[in-house]
Amino acid sequence: MSANTRPSILQSVIPITDLRRGHGLPIPAMRETSDGTTVRDQRGRQLRDLRISVTDRCNFRCTYCMPKEVFDNDYQYLPHAEVLSFEEITRVARIAVAQGVKKIRLTGGEPLMRRGIEDLVAMLAAIPGIDLTLTTNGSALKAKAVALKAVGLNRLTVSLDSLDDKTFRAMNDVDFPVAKVLEAIDAANAAGFEQIKINMVVKRGVNDHQVVQMAKFFKPTHGLHGNIVRFIEFMDVGSTNGWKMDDVIPSQEVVNRIHAVLPCEPAHPNHLGEVAKRWKYLDGAGEFGVISSVTEAFCGSCTRARLSTDGALYTCLFAQRGYDLKTLLRSGEDDALIANAIGGIWQARQDNYSEVRTAETARERKVEMSFIGG
Ligand code: GTP
Ligand code: 5AD
Ligand code: SF4
Ligand code: SF4
Repeated sequence: MSANTRPSILQSVIPITDLRRGHGLPIPAMRETSDGTTVRDQRGRQLRDLRISVTDRCNFRCTYCMPKEVFDNDYQYLPHAEVLSFEEITRVARIAVAQGVKKIRLTGGEPLMRRGIEDLVAMLAAIPGIDLTLTTNGSALKAKAVALKAVGLNRLTVSLDSLDDKTFRAMNDVDFPVAKVLEAIDAANAAGFEQIKINMVVKRGVNDHQVVQMAKFFKPTHGLHGNIVRFIEFMDVGSTNGWKMDDVIPSQEVVNRIHAVLPCEPAHPNHLGEVAKRWKYLDGAGEFGVISSVTEAFCGSCTRARLSTDGALYTCLFAQRGYDLKTLLRSGEDDALIANAIGGIWQARQDNYSEVRTAETARERKVEMSFIGG
């Protein structure tokens, strides 16, 4: 796709740096909890998941996430000194786990671009009782899969928007071949990662012709275990991806298209608040998922907090501002104070962006997904 086919993106460029630096929200004091431990937000939602962005860099330029016109050679990534160290990340994780977090997902940008990521995985894996997972674009996964398994990563998600090489190269916009990602998925399966989640963002007229192909490709031919594709509705994250409702393929349409070729029925959620709705094939082999944050918001059960690359805590993917934890981490405060801050932030939370999304809100300034994690 050439740059001059995306004028709307160019016109909507806003200084992202303003959203990142020096605008932390005041941190509310924590109130006592009813049972002495569980923190709940204003809608009674618990804090269960922590998504950690370990780098704001990525080697892809997916048109819906880091469009080239914005993330060009002049783009100012965070300087090293602003990026949380592995020790700082692990400290926040440990404190959040003591407050109820059960699942930690490493994201980015592209998390495998962070030097020494295996060391961070090992440090986090040492925290008892968590489900530790990571979302990657797969480009560096082949080389790292064995090491990641060895240091204790429990699960993996790979983003893959098309099996058709031409479409895939156009979507990642750096001409990266699909064959390498497929090789990496094979390598990760061979390294012992089972039931890898394959995330496909579906954009009308761009890759929706690949929906059935993707379902077929990842459906196991025998046995129950395969990798699991999840079809994601294209969202208005950030301020630069030129989102419009016409580009969204509603999940119902995805299900209808697959059902016509591979009959399927709804399956029970694996856990309360699961983001993806599961569908299993009627022949008994395999399943897929749909993530419908545009047509069927799941804010009511959203238990996710996000830690940005520079140590701000965000209580919603669509937040305009975060809470600066890094300053607290670097000012010699003890764990109790950090725990108090996280608890207070969570208790003040009211977020429900996907329930109230309109064409107007889609144009608002929001923090970029590559910065707070997908
Ligand atoms: P699993 O436990 O592996 O199933 O994780 P998950 O269901 O949280 O899935 P994952 O982290 O892979 O998220 C998949 C996609 O769903 C993301 O890339 C986003 O596009 C979308 N998503 C995840 N969390 C949220 C959220 O809190 N709000 C919205 N609106 N979208 C989300
Ligand atoms: N809409 C939906 N999902 C998105 N992702 C990134 N940008 C968007 C968007 N605009 C998802 C990708 C990837 C993860 C990092 O975030 O699918 O799996
Ligand atoms: Fe990179 Fe993932 Fe964003 Fe694509 S969606 S640009 S791979 S962070
Ligand atoms: Fe959670 Fe915000 Fe997504 Fe709603 S829009 S599910 S509150 S992250």
